[in-house]
Amino acid sequence: MKDQGKNIYPVFDQILKRSDKEQLLKQRSKVVWMTGLSGAGKTTIAKYLDEALYKKGYLAQILDGDNIRSGINSNLAFSEDDRYENIRRIAEVSKLFINCGIIIINSFISPTEEIRKMALEIIGQENFIEVFIDAPIEVCEQRDTKGLYARARKGEIKNFTGINSPFEFPSGADITINTDKQGIEESVNELLDYILPKIQL
Ligand code: ADX
Repeated sequence: MKDQGKNIYPVFDQILKRSDKEQLLKQRSKVVWMTGLSGAGKTTIAKYLDEALYKKGYLAQILDGDNIRSGINSNLAFSEDDRYENIRRIAEVSKLFINCGIIIINSFISPTEEIRKMALEIIGQENFIEVFIDAPIEVCEQRDTKGLYARARKGEIKNFTGINSPFEFPSGADITINTDKQGIEESVNELLDYILPKIQL
């Protein structure tokens, strides 16, 4: 055949760029990286933020323990090394989503400055919005939605963040949401107001 070996569709010679996909989705891709203690409200805020963005016509993807630690990271536990590897893979996955123009809502304890810095360096400062979902440990422990604090206190869970594993204050956070001082709706609206100008084309 005459055209064999030649690309007869010149358009396929051009690799679609992130900006092409952002144009298609009419949004700017960002990683909304939520850090905070277990029980601080990260996953709840992620869920409502995703819904709020969807209603406004934005496409986002939540990454959190439910879809990451049960799948791609199912071989990882909570040692320092495993947490580092957990976050490294999440940051790399986030980078793939960025190139697809999607907004990523990450909800991970990401407990140390070193871990968060590593995530930021993989993802890129210009793509990264660090959000501290803040509630005092006493409040998180009282909420104890999953019963994990009680089990950690009994010594049934080792390396539990805030009990016998560190959580470092995120000094580089772009915004702090205090979930002990306001309800979920106010928290989501506060975050939404901060994010919207950054994801508009
Ligand atoms: S991270 O430290 O590596 O960022 P990640 O956010 O993925 O942690 O997972 C935290 C969730 O795993 C918690 O919300 C809790 O439900 C569960 N978990 C189980 N064991 C631990 C532990 N030892 N420390 C903290 N969270 C734990």
